[in-house]
Amino acid sequence: MKNIARLLMAESEPEAPVSGKRMAEITSLENAWLVIEHGKIGCFGQGEVIPFRDDEVIDCQGGMVLPAFCDAHTHLVYAGSREKEYEDRIRGLSYEEIARRGGGILNSAGLLGRTAEEELYEQSLPRLHEIIASGTGAVEIKSGYGLDTENELKMLRVIRRLGEAIPVTVRATFLGAHAFPAEYRSDRDRYVRLVTDEMIPAVAAEGLADFIDVFCDRGFFTVEQTQMILEAGAEHGLVPKIHANELDFSGGVQVGVTNRALSVDHLEFVGEEELEVLKNCRTMPTLLPGTSLFLGLTYAPARKIIDAGLPVALASDYNPGSSPSGNMELVMSLGIMQLGMLPNEVLNAVTINGAYAMGVEEVHGTITPGKIASVVITRPMPSFGFMPYSYGTSQIDKVILNGKIQ
Ligand code: NIG
Ligand code: FE
Repeated sequence: MKNIARLLMAESEPEAPVSGKRMAEITSLENAWLVIEHGKIGCFGQGEVIPFRDDEVIDCQGGMVLPAFCDAHTHLVYAGSREKEYEDRIRGLSYEEIARRGGGILNSAGLLGRTAEEELYEQSLPRLHEIIASGTGAVEIKSGYGLDTENELKMLRVIRRLGEAIPVTVRATFLGAHAFPAEYRSDRDRYVRLVTDEMIPAVAAEGLADFIDVFCDRGFFTVEQTQMILEAGAEHGLVPKIHANELDFSGGVQVGVTNRALSVDHLEFVGEEELEVLKNCRTMPTLLPGTSLFLGLTYAPARKIIDAGLPVALASDYNPGSSPSGNMELVMSLGIMQLGMLPNEVLNAVTINGAYAMGVEEVHGTITPGKIASVVITRPMPSFGFMPYSYGTSQIDKVILNGKIQ
């Protein structure tokens, strides 16, 4: 790759995660070239291109090159859509009221239950192509619209097939504890037992998930239920990445950290206690500003988290109910406009810290020799900050995944 005006995050020995003040720093090489060999990052340098006989040369035409985005939190496998609820919210119903009336996650679960595996795959595939076109090279996808063993397995099989069919890196998360099906309304613990005693062993037996998630929040799963589910997951080697503190100070951050979660996600409600708990642990605070935008919720206090010396990852939460977009350029813009982050901070948050939050930091998130050659080529820009600044207009010229132009 030649004529790279600026090669961003080219680092031989990258640090992961990037925390606190370090989040505002980005390494960059001006007037650079980059060699890709067998789908991996090779060497890079500045100035004249070293000649490679017979090799294909991509002319970046004065654009910048950065690592492909790592979106560590999505629910992009789902059936149908929920724009009717979008309208209901404009008319005055809240997300929680819609959920209590059997809409929300249960609405998606009903649709998914009536959708065959092949059809679910066909509906989800274009969403994956769409996020690739918008620069994503690694994505975590959750189950959680099945809510019974058969349909949770169906979702996870679709996630596995998507990862096999497409050059994007996919990690799968089992989220059976996303909501309580209507028939368990009067005995929620019985559903928790279904998750721990039947779903988790079945998911593990087929090796369908890398991670386990629980929606630990007001009106959904309690801290005690979350603890039981995470323990059962741990017995089957599933590492927690959980939904916490989206709707209230739910105790989700604490139960996540205690169970050595790789990430705790959402965090719209974070106070001093949560910040203290997040220090000195390996758990990545992962913020989803698209959800706050779409639902009109308060935004997570990113500034406080970073200023406390902690790392932050940003992800899209791509799902039909609370954030029907997987556009990471938009997520970066929201990180700046609504979370008060700096351009360099959002870039770290959507690349190396996102990679860390889904356990792929060894192969994604920076431009490092030996890592997977999944990078984004931008149009010529005056500075990197121009990319999130020009919100709503993509600055992406080309996306390269595993060394191949998409
Ligand atoms: O991350 N908070 C829980 N789950 C999703 C929403 C899912 C839905 O509404 O379909 C979220 O916001
Ligand atoms: Fe989510």
